[in-house]
Amino acid sequence: MSREELFSVRPLFNPEGRHVYLETYGCQMNVNDSEVVLSILQGAGFTLCEKMDEADLILVNTCSIRDNAEQRVLGRLDLFRQEKKRRPGVVVGVLGCMAERLKDKLLENSAVDIVAGPDAYRDLPRLVEAVTASGKQINTILSHEETYADIAPVRMDKQGVSAFISIMRGCNNVCSYCIVPYVRGAERSRDPESILNEARTLIDAGYREINLLGQNVDSYNWSPADPAEGKLDFAGLLDRVARLDPAVRIRFATSHPKDMSDRVLHTMASHPNICRHIHLPVQSGSDVMLEKMNRKYTRARYMEQIASIRRIMPDCAVTTDVIAGFSGESDEDFEATLSLFREVRYDGAFMFQYSERPGTKASRHYPDDVPAAVKTARLNEIIALQNGISLERNRECVGKFYEVLIEGPSKRSDAELVGRTSQNKTCVFPAGGHRPGEYVNVRVLSCTSATLLCEVV
Ligand code: 5AD
Ligand code: SF4
Repeated sequence: MSREELFSVRPLFNPEGRHVYLETYGCQMNVNDSEVVLSILQGAGFTLCEKMDEADLILVNTCSIRDNAEQRVLGRLDLFRQEKKRRPGVVVGVLGCMAERLKDKLLENSAVDIVAGPDAYRDLPRLVEAVTASGKQINTILSHEETYADIAPVRMDKQGVSAFISIMRGCNNVCSYCIVPYVRGAERSRDPESILNEARTLIDAGYREINLLGQNVDSYNWSPADPAEGKLDFAGLLDRVARLDPAVRIRFATSHPKDMSDRVLHTMASHPNICRHIHLPVQSGSDVMLEKMNRKYTRARYMEQIASIRRIMPDCAVTTDVIAGFSGESDEDFEATLSLFREVRYDGAFMFQYSERPGTKASRHYPDDVPAAVKTARLNEIIALQNGISLERNRECVGKFYEVLIEGPSKRSDAELVGRTSQNKTCVFPAGGHRPGEYVNVRVLSCTSATLLCEVV
């Protein structure tokens, strides 16, 4: 294999040799981790296959954020076990957050041969070989340094328009409900030169949108070995990535209200190619809950940040995450969340029921005492409220003009294309000879709560 092939951003294709089938659950960070895993495995002679029954190695990259995410993966393992019965010799590995959380408990599952945590991917080729020689293998060692900075992820998306770059790993915030710090380890920032190189490679390969990823991008902080080189914070990094190519869009996630600075907002405002969208998880509108969640901000401070965003970038969309039914959440607490949603009028939100995660501060100190039926009712109530607000927000777009980056055909028909505005709103419009990766100007004709229906102008 040539050096050039090994550094290709797209998967290698080789009908000979060993094949890996890779499923990914969870966040964008996990999608990007799977791209790192594929790169490492290609280096060890594997090529990607799209069907499980063609695979010598079946891998599932997992999420532990809520119990239902784990249940889904356990269901997949039952299927992989059947595949192993049909074709003995197939090796099955569990990667990522569940591997880290459950460790050798997962090895008790007869489907599983390999357990590898998020910092153990370089070890995968060795683990795979060792299975044949000596049976089940595990590596769940977390690292203070690993950022996979030198590994060129192999992109598995279909269209080649939008790609992820992880700028940091791990998390140092101990939100009391959250499993992430335990399964992803301590926060570490990646060398900016390696980030910029990866971005340049993507741009050269035709990508038109780069998503910078981290659990808390606002605490990105690069301190070089040589202090003369100077430190770099997230605003500085964003500025450098945005300068690479004004025709390439930059997005980022996730922002943390306790760390997001006006400097980041001003950097966004000064670069038209940094998308006008901030994902700013609030989790609750009640100060009592925020304190117990250890979020380190108050509702009032959060609202000040929303005001800053709108003052500095009036056209910026804001989305959020929220949890219904956290420990001790009263009707008043939940009402505070609803009223915050009415005040902010988010463009969109990811809404969840609280799911107690073993080992977290909440699981040790705060009882999971909101009845399941109440959690569900609250979740439904906030979803209904937000759907109404999303629809109103989208109606405000009708009649207006937007620049859209085309991502691919629409789900319904090849005669229609899908793309997004800078504000991250999904637009559907007649294809008319346009292609993924192009920018087009559209006018919004009508909308649903999720989509803007447009014409190209
Ligand atoms: N239960 C429910 N939702 C959770 N999240 C994180 N931990 C939990 C949990 N234990 C949500 C938060 C976070 C998003 C990624 O998932 O809203 O922002
Ligand atoms: Fe991503 Fe968190 Fe799920 Fe891990 S647990 S995959 S970090 S969302």
